[in-house]
Amino acid sequence: MSTLLKNGRIITAEQDYVADIFIEKEKITTIGSNLKYEADTVIDAKDKYVIPGGIDVHTHLDMPFGGTMSSDDFETGTKAAAFGGTTSFIDFAIQPKGGSLREGLDTWKAKAEGKATIDYSFHMIITDLPDKRLSEMDDMVKEGVTSFKLFLAYPGVLMVDDATIYKAMLQTKKNGGLVCMHAENGMTIDIIVQQMVAEGKLAPKYHAFSRPAAAEGESTNRAIALAEMAGTPVYIVHLTCNDALTKVSEARDRGLPAYAETCTQYLYLSIEDISKPGFEGAKYVFSPPVREKWHQDKLWAGLQQNNLQVVSTDHCPFNFKGQKELGKDNFTKIPNGGPGIENRVQLLYDGGVNEGRISVNRWVELISTNPAKLFGMYPRKGAISVGSDADIVIWDPNKEYTISAKTHHMNVDYSMFEGKKVKGNAETVLSRGEVIVQNNEFKGKKGRGNFVKRDAFAAAW
Ligand code: URP
Ligand code: ZN
Ligand code: ZN
Repeated sequence: MSTLLKNGRIITAEQDYVADIFIEKEKITTIGSNLKYEADTVIDAKDKYVIPGGIDVHTHLDMPFGGTMSSDDFETGTKAAAFGGTTSFIDFAIQPKGGSLREGLDTWKAKAEGKATIDYSFHMIITDLPDKRLSEMDDMVKEGVTSFKLFLAYPGVLMVDDATIYKAMLQTKKNGGLVCMHAENGMTIDIIVQQMVAEGKLAPKYHAFSRPAAAEGESTNRAIALAEMAGTPVYIVHLTCNDALTKVSEARDRGLPAYAETCTQYLYLSIEDISKPGFEGAKYVFSPPVREKWHQDKLWAGLQQNNLQVVSTDHCPFNFKGQKELGKDNFTKIPNGGPGIENRVQLLYDGGVNEGRISVNRWVELISTNPAKLFGMYPRKGAISVGSDADIVIWDPNKEYTISAKTHHMNVDYSMFEGKKVKGNAETVLSRGEVIVQNNEFKGKKGRGNFVKRDAFAAAW
């Protein structure tokens, strides 16, 4: 099957020019002016942007959490991603406590296979690491699962101690993997939570008040210090606040390979949202929590100055009815997580490019190219170049769109950005050369997504 994309404005992390793209056997084979090739499908992209498909490196589909399951599975979540211009993603497989990394990977591969509509990979969440399991990390890297997430939060559930993190980092020094850190000081947060519950402070907003920015700053600092001791890179996931950002920027100023992502919700939502009357605030319960509004400007500056390299979603949806409601009388029982996989590319375009904060090139870099580079998929993904997978989004910069649960494709009964008007949206989405979204219609197939075997970090960056 061949496709010719005509007259589009090709925007990559480095370039911006008008040309045609010829696609054959899932790959970009030629880029040039006025190509005269015969093709099975011809798409005119005049006046549209042609960008590499979005890559969301932080999602939780079909995940057991907080006594329930995230409401999008690998079919519904990936369809929604495609509508929003995301053509690959990295989800989190979880090592069962006391079990092997392999068991975790097999379980998550089984969830994705036959369902995912776009390409996917996995990070491995390490829940415990006795010495006998260290070599399992090497096996993961060989199989293309080249990044690991460890938690400094959620004691008794996912949290590990500093020694475990340090050991994992030392192992990645040998195998080329990358440690990703959830940086919040879980032990002290638990004490604050207990105090709040004892004082009868049970509304959703106390979720945010029990998890102070200082607890994220401390843990970010600790994660970076452990990586510095081990002599490895580190990637901080879902960074929310100035306290943590200053730790990353200080480390980078010292030349350390410290990297971080923020998520769209932290750029747009704040304490005001979680403090909405009644139980409404439960829609904004995720960890780390929303912060005071002023942190948002700091995060945008972090994206401008490259102290933050990636924008992901931490997509972890729970329905308001029946799931978030588990914590109706006590915020500690509200499942942590929010939906966002469909809105990431448009929110970053609208708040970033339309608002004059970042260039179109930086937008592409943050939503596609840097994720691909940091997580070992570049230039197969995250690029418009000869030989790359033809994961391509034809973007209409003038399309006006109102975000709403009434029209979104995520399997969740609310939107965190309900009613927000954005300008700029995906018009046509190709995954390995196949049109999977066109004119607001899904044309892909369940199960067509492939597992992406990623390169080791060391080899990629
Ligand atoms: O609240 C969140 N973020 N839920 C998903 C789990 C995590 O920590 O990423
Ligand atoms: Zn996390
Ligand atoms: Zn997460």
